[in-house]
Amino acid sequence: GVGPWDECFEVAVQLALRAGQIIRKALTEEKQVSTKTSAADLVTETDHRVEDLIVSELRKRFPSHRFIAEEATASGAKCVLTHSPTWIIDPIDGTCNFVHRFPTVAVSIGFAVHQELEFGVIHHCTEERLYTGRRGRGAFCNGQRLQVSRETDLAKALVLTEIGPKRDPDTLKVFLSNMERLLHAKAHGVRVIGSSTLALCYLASGAADAYYQFGLHCWDLAAATVIIREAGGIVIDTSGGPLDLMSCRVVAAGTREMAALIAQALQTINYGRDDEK
Ligand code: IPD
Repeated sequence: GVGPWDECFEVAVQLALRAGQIIRKALTEEKQVSTKTSAADLVTETDHRVEDLIVSELRKRFPSHRFIAEEATASGAKCVLTHSPTWIIDPIDGTCNFVHRFPTVAVSIGFAVHQELEFGVIHHCTEERLYTGRRGRGAFCNGQRLQVSRETDLAKALVLTEIGPKRDPDTLKVFLSNMERLLHAKAHGVRVIGSSTLALCYLASGAADAYYQFGLHCWDLAAATVIIREAGGIVIDTSGGPLDLMSCRVVAAGTREMAALIAQALQTINYGRDDEK
């Protein structure tokens, strides 16, 4: 049947594919790189170009909708999720990878109505994989249904994480001790691939058993959360409580047991909130 947001979903897919072409072409070209909140928090002219393309096309098609987008927020726009239909956009997730030509780079477009996530589209630009999830209708990668891992034992888990932008000694100590705790618990491995959204897509695909991070943003989480939930997975707060899209932290896993084990092992790194910046 036709759902109320089908047209929005179709437009999101088309824009994610167009954005992917631009990013793929720009990957091997000379780049203008600037820093944002830290020396490791990067932005290029392609991030801006892709965000402007996506937002301007969506505004034309859906003039009453609202937007939360990474680079507009970096330029001072407020991050507020109201009851209105809201697009939550990361034009290039994995900008540091993009800058170094490390081929793990994505476009992420999420959509929420009444503060509930309706769909997510994530395009792995270099491998041309399109991940989609729609509330109540499953999650797919290039048309193939996604299913999370059923693993419940941390001692058999492959765990993904990302470092986050802060690099001061206290933050790094906690970051490394969190990783150490999981390795002490005999996790099979811990991987850092440089893109939160694609790591979360690997989790949705069953290619990893858990993901956790402090210091990511609502635009890293929105689309991926729908995809993971529709693949049968769990997305929660690092406290073990319900996910808060604005809290800059997350635990995701294939099973509730695994998510709880990861949450219990972690020490908090405080990144503040997206809606308080
Ligand atoms: C970042 C990347 C990075 C993760 C950060 C994200 P960006 O997104 O996913 O791996 O550690 O938390 O914000 O800045 O490349 O869009």
